[in-house]
This record gives sequence, C-alpha cells and structure tokens, in this order.
Amino acid sequence: MTTAANTHMIRVDVRSMEPGQTRAIQAGGHDLLLCNVDGEFFVVENRCSHATSPLAGGRLEGCILECPMHGGKLDVRDGSPQHAPVRKPVPTYPVRLVNDLVEITLDS
Ligand code: FES
Repeated sequence: MTTAANTHMIRVDVRSMEPGQTRAIQAGGHDLLLCNVDGEFFVVENRCSHATSPLAGGRLEGCILECPMHGGKLDVRDGSPQHAPVRKPVPTYPVRLVNDLVEITLDS
C-alpha cells in the first residue's frame, strides 16, 4: 500500500517484498521502481536511460538490474550503467526503511 505523506515523501509497505523483487510505483507524477537488494531497498526511476523503456519486469540479481527491453544493466544503488547498451545513469531517489515501511523522498 502506498500512502502519500506529503508532497515530497511517500511510504510503501514492503512486508510482502522478498529479496530480488521489484515493484513499480507511481506517485506524485513520478514513475519509480522499488528494488529489494537482500533486504536493503533502493529506488530508481522506472525508465531505462537507453531507450526510455520501463525497467519494471527486469531481473534483479544482487544490486544489478537487467533492463527487460535490450538486456542492458545498471546498479540500482546509484543508477550507474553496468552493461551496454545502458550508458547513462538512471536517476535514483533517497530511501529510508522505518519498520516495514520504506520512505521515499521525491524531489518536488
Ligand atoms: S531500453 Fe533498456 S537497454 Fe534498451
């Protein structure tokens, strides 16, 4: 469940998310992808920097997400490109785990 706390932060209940799972989230005009990396959570923009395809549905192995469109890879911890054809970073968003909720801070 996603709850709007204010215009700059959302909270997501992550009790049902297992390590290696991702979840697409739309909030406040943002299209995000929440990633569970071995119990640590990271959020990237749900749009590949290669051809702007959604990253949702891509395989997450550790901190490396494979784009489902052309197989490019990025590190969800910082959005950095890890394998062609992804060459530019993907935006990331600060997160904080509070009990079973992930708080995601959004830029305006
Ligand atoms: S759209 Fe992601 S690798 Fe091409």
